[in-house]
Amino acid sequence: MSYAIVGFGAVGQALAHAFARKNIDVTVASRQPPEALAPQARAIGPTVVAKSLRDALEADTIILAVPFGEHREVAKALPSWKGKTVIDAMNALVPLEELDGLPSSAFVAKAFTGANFVKGFNHLVAATLAADPIVEGGHRVVFLSSDDEDAIAPVAALAKQLGFAPVKLGKLNEGGALVHARGRAWGQLIFQDLFKKEQ
Ligand SMILES: NC(=O)c1ccc[n+]([C@@H]2O[C@H](COP(=O)([O-])OP(=O)(O)OC[C@H]3O[C@@H](n4cnc5c(N)ncnc54)[C@H](OP(=O)(O)O)[C@@H]3O)[C@@H](O)[C@H]2O)c1
Repeated sequence: MSYAIVGFGAVGQALAHAFARKNIDVTVASRQPPEALAPQARAIGPTVVAKSLRDALEADTIILAVPFGEHREVAKALPSWKGKTVIDAMNALVPLEELDGLPSSAFVAKAFTGANFVKGFNHLVAATLAADPIVEGGHRVVFLSSDDEDAIAPVAALAKQLGFAPVKLGKLNEGGALVHARGRAWGQLIFQDLFKKEQ
């Protein structure tokens, strides 16, 4: 599996720390040229490599860590998302009518037609996500949800590799609603920093 993080701000860098901690290769990209991101990528760890957006999107698994409204631009950067796994780490505090009444990730998924689409790694503030997820023998929980049950397994495997305890919530508009903002209100599990004793 190959991994890319699109968006190298607070959340993108937090996730890059998680990959670096486990020596897992990951490319990082934003709208800036890779040279602009390279010093920060190197500072996080040798397995974190800055590339152009186009090159980063060659990865099998792509984590979206851009401002919500920018997902459309990222989606347009590939002619087809078939066969890709897309992990939506974004949050959207926007009126429901702007999302056609859908959970924000279901709205985003429409732009990534054909992808195996999973929401995850979105419920913690970036500083918490950046910290070592293994604390006193417990593993920091990340919540995963998707309308495609089969898409969750490889993302859960990645979360475990990174040291997190993945918890599956089911479909985006079912259990997944707990990690979605609804209009201007946060879902009940957002910001809940939970730990699991056994993975
Ligand atoms: N901050 C948090 O604590 C937190 C926690 C959980 C979830 N989130 C969610 O995570 C997402 C990112 O938040 P953030 O706080 O990390 O934002 P941020 O610090 O502003 O970083 C956003 C990154 O996305 C890049 N970007 C913007 N437009 C892009 C495009 N069209 N193509 C490629 N890269 C693009 C930006 O770089 P350039 O502008 O240079 O391209 C920047 O590297 C948001 O959806 C937010 O809701 C944030």
